[in-house]
Amino acid sequence: MEKLLEVKNLKVSFFTDLGETQAVKDAGFAIEKGDFFGIVGESGSGKSVTTKSILRLGTSNCKVLGGEILFKGEDILKKNAAELREIRGGEIAMIFQDSLSALNPVYTVGSKMVELIRRHTKMSKAEAKKRAVELLAAVGITDPEKSMKSYPHELSGGMRQRVMIAMAMSSNPQILIADEPTTALDVTIQAQILHLLLDLQKKNGMSIILITHDLGVVAQTCKRVAVMCGGYVVEEGAVEDIFLHPGHPYTQH
Ligand SMILES: Nc1ncnc2c1ncn2[C@@H]1O[C@H](COP(=O)(O)OP(=O)(O)OP(=O)(O)O)[C@@H](O)[C@H]1O
Ligand SMILES: [Mg+2]
Repeated sequence: MEKLLEVKNLKVSFFTDLGETQAVKDAGFAIEKGDFFGIVGESGSGKSVTTKSILRLGTSNCKVLGGEILFKGEDILKKNAAELREIRGGEIAMIFQDSLSALNPVYTVGSKMVELIRRHTKMSKAEAKKRAVELLAAVGITDPEKSMKSYPHELSGGMRQRVMIAMAMSSNPQILIADEPTTALDVTIQAQILHLLLDLQKKNGMSIILITHDLGVVAQTCKRVAVMCGGYVVEEGAVEDIFLHPGHPYTQH
């Protein structure tokens, strides 16, 4: 099968007054079209830095020192700023754990969604509004018209995460990267959000990269998984294989 995204020998460091921190030493994995791909590993193992590098979202003191990130065969690391803007929030979208700080508190959900939709399409304001309502309904928000008029703090954590997913879906991405999207939520809501991601992945045929600490979540949702440890991807494969024949201590319990 054709590889949609291939990360090869990625190396990322942070530079501070104290010197260099090698956050990612050698990370590599490949994602196919329609994959539900998990990235697991202990805290600090480099999961977020690796996935943020895919979208070049690192802070100014964060440098990619080596490797390749091939999206449809082209190296994202060689793209210019304009090309990156097209990919980021377009063909590849990302959602984070902390939906409250990711959403701008001064804009209503509707105004932010209309802006996002119009950034990637030529829709009129009215058309974009209609599309926003459809997207909110598609992520299971029961009264989308009302939510359009809400400010982020007026919504529950689960609702906000649904809004984040609707926003990410607004550009019809080929890859959705979800970094611990459910850790801040209680167990029932967590299950609903995972269910929603599975549903969207099936309906839209997009690929999802799900970053989590929770091996149970991976077993329930992912087809394939990469295990990170100390800046390295130490294992990559089908979920059944990794969980049945774990080669690395992290997956052995
Ligand atoms: N802004 C930063 N400045 C300096 N070092 C950083 C910064 N962000 C991350 N790091 C370093 O990179 C390493 C990997 O961090 P990363 O956030 O990718 O871990 P993670 O696997 O996502 O952990 P968690 O599960 O806790 O989210 C950390 O151990 C840390 O030393
Ligand atoms: Mg992280």
